[in-house]
This record gives sequence, C-alpha cells and structure tokens, in this order.
Amino acid sequence: MSPRGRPRAPGLALLATAGVMLVLMARADEVPRFPEGAAVFQANCAVCHRATGAGTPGLAPPVTQYPPRFIATPEGRRQLALTVLFGMFGDIVVAERHYNFKMPDFVRLDDATLAATLNFVVFDLGHAPAEAAPLTVSDIAAERPRALDGSAVLAHRGEVVAQLAP
Ligand code: HEC
Repeated sequence: MSPRGRPRAPGLALLATAGVMLVLMARADEVPRFPEGAAVFQANCAVCHRATGAGTPGLAPPVTQYPPRFIATPEGRRQLALTVLFGMFGDIVVAERHYNFKMPDFVRLDDATLAATLNFVVFDLGHAPAEAAPLTVSDIAAERPRALDGSAVLAHRGEVVAQLAP
C-alpha cells in the first residue's frame, strides 16, 4: 500500500489515454490523399524540398507556393509535368527568395509514378482546392516526347507565372 502514490494513478492513466488518442487523431489527419506519391516524394525529392515541401533556402524552393496554383490552368499543368520529366535550371524567385540551382530530371520514373508524386505535391503538401482535377497518366505521357532541356522548362515557367492571377 502506498497512500502517497495511489491517488495519482487514475489521473496518469487518463492522461496517457488522452495522449494516445491525440496521436491517433493527428495521424488520421495526415493520411495523404496520394500515398504512392508520398512515398516517391520522400524517397526522391525530400532531400532537397524537405518532407513538408518547405524547401531548403539557397538550394531548392518550396513546392507549396506555385504548384498548387499551376494545377488550375492547362499551361500550369503542363509546367508541372515538364519540371519533373526534364528538370529545370536557372534563376527563379519563390516567396521573395532566389533559387538558382539545378532541379534534376526524373524522366526515368514512369508516367503513373510522376503523376502520383505531383498530385501529392499539389494536393497533400500544397493544399490545392480539392475540386481541382488531379494530373493523370496521360497528362505526363503527353509531355514525355518533348524532351526539353532545363532552360526551356524555365522559360515555359516564366510564361505560366506571367499568366497567373496576381
Ligand atoms: C537536388 C535537389 C532537388 C531534388 C532531388 C528535387 N528537386 Fe525539385 N527543384 C530543385 C531546384 C533547385 C528547383 C528550382 C530550379 C530552378 O531554380 O530553376 C526545383 C524546382 C521544383 C519544382 C518547381 C517549383 C516552381 O515553383 O516552379 C517542382 C514542382 C519540383 N522541383 C518538384 C520536385 C519533385 C516532385 C522532386 C522529386 C521527384 C524533386 N523536385 C526533386 C531541386 C531539387
């Protein structure tokens, strides 16, 4: 019998239960809409863009700023596909910071994998409106034969950004 210890036990048990419930609720919130894309992103992209997509200052931009806006226009959707297929090279400004490093190409990944990865970026990390249409396998397949280089992808991005609503 330990009269000093006993009365605290029910409180601790309650706290522990509440803690477990909070963890479970937080996890349920984080279940991605595009889980396959999430796995590819964490394996191939997070090293530069970080797990949250927030980017690495001086190295890689956040992918949470422009991609969720690009998904809303036909040229923006093409831009997303071109960036992952062929990479991108040259100065861009995102959230008032300059980035001027090489985004590698991922032309070796298949169309379904690239579509899922971009959809994870746009909808799960970037919180694009849920009613926007996700990228499809044919969206990626349509751009693959173009075989652009990273500077041409950057030039196309300039046109797309100029057409976005301010
Ligand atoms: C070696 C670092 C690196 C890796 C790995 C990487 N990126 Fe990038 N990414 C960059 C850089 C750097 C840029 C900006 C290029 C520039 O300045 O022209 C960029 C740009 C982007 C953009 C364009 C953002 C915008 O505002 O236009 C998207 C989308 C993107 N990356 C997605 C991905 C995805 C998806 C992956 C994984 C399949 C990936 N990146 C892997 C470095 C990386």
